[in-house]
Amino acid sequence: MPNDNTKGELGMHCDAGLSRSQRTTLLFSVHDKVGALDECLCALKKAQVSMTRIESRPSKSVEPGYDFFVDIEAHTKDKVMQVIDEIKRVDIVRDVSYIGSLEEKEADAVPWFPRKISDLDTFSDKVLEMGEELSSDHPGASDPVYRKRRLEIVQKAKEYRTGQPLPHIDYTEQERETWRQVYTKLREMHPKYACREFLHVFPLLEQNCGYGPDNIPQIDAISRFLKDCTGFTLRPVMGLLTPRDFLNSLAFRVFHSTQYIRHHSRPTYTPEPDCCHELLGHVPLFADPNFAELAQEIGLASLGASDEDIQRLATIFWFTAEFGLCREGADVRAYGAGLLSSFGELEYALTEKPEHQSFNPSLTSSQKYPITEYQPVYFVADSFRDATNKMREFNSTMHRPFQVRYNPYTQSVEVLDSKDKVQHLAQSIRNEMQLLANALELV
Ligand SMILES: [Fe+2]
Repeated sequence: MPNDNTKGELGMHCDAGLSRSQRTTLLFSVHDKVGALDECLCALKKAQVSMTRIESRPSKSVEPGYDFFVDIEAHTKDKVMQVIDEIKRVDIVRDVSYIGSLEEKEADAVPWFPRKISDLDTFSDKVLEMGEELSSDHPGASDPVYRKRRLEIVQKAKEYRTGQPLPHIDYTEQERETWRQVYTKLREMHPKYACREFLHVFPLLEQNCGYGPDNIPQIDAISRFLKDCTGFTLRPVMGLLTPRDFLNSLAFRVFHSTQYIRHHSRPTYTPEPDCCHELLGHVPLFADPNFAELAQEIGLASLGASDEDIQRLATIFWFTAEFGLCREGADVRAYGAGLLSSFGELEYALTEKPEHQSFNPSLTSSQKYPITEYQPVYFVADSFRDATNKMREFNSTMHRPFQVRYNPYTQSVEVLDSKDKVQHLAQSIRNEMQLLANALELV
């Protein structure tokens, strides 16, 4: 338990905005150096406010360390901001947050979410099902050779960490034969049913990433290609992630891809995502800038979202990236990976049998759906750009007390919870507007 002589670096938290309570509680985290708390309390003195309470507890974000909750006598927003500014001037402080009261803080706890791209490593060994074990209804469940092979591939995903080379898989002849059957059939169907963006990208994957009927492409080549197109990258995954973890990674423009392939006895069926689904269904559209923006928008909305909102966002992902349809003039085409990697449902979805509704996130997010049968309802987007705009409007209705922004330079998520951060964002936008104005004069 640290005391006033405790020193330390101060980390930051911020989970709420300013204005809810008469009680004014600040939160900061401390570890290591002796005396850091003293420096912060001196900042309070500089701001000429009194401290009425101080509590500490082991920190969840700084290990080893402590979170300090400090009540101050500051009843106006300006005064609180002045105190925060003073504390920030302490050079070891990176940030500071206003949280209302400790009781409010615990009642309004925001779920943990990744702040930097390496935080995605915490998902490496967390899967909902079929990570190292298969369910009994999996076609490969009673095939010990298949199970051993799948486990070998899954193990590479489990051990992968950010910054390492992506795992290379030497696929067997039998695996390539399964791929060939799936690839050949789907490539016959895509021109008739797939959206134009998908059809534009696919030949580029064949030219640049080793896509073809006789070769299962490696995710490192695909990831490099996607990064050049939209900044999206791939990372390996053991199996189905939780919806929260999976969606959170999209905020970083990261897509989790399995590398194992379905069982050779049933090339037309898989009860779980496999490399046919990921590489033939999902990957092409991550090379499209407008689709990439839509996917990231869903991901950003999921950071720190409530369980209810995660469910709504997962449903939206289901009806867009997995089973989405879009308009092309008078036609309707498919862009969802669940359709574009399925022989039967791709054709069915574009018949008169199922219902087609316009994509509307508020309605779409509450639509019930089966996961083992064809969908009775599909949602049709006017365009990826229109769907993204609608998602932005929808996101503003979600119950989250802060805004986040992805910083591609640091590959991290910024929580816009302080005046400094918002001012910095405003400055960036001002610079971009100036660039736009200059460019308009030249075109
Ligand atoms: Fe999928």
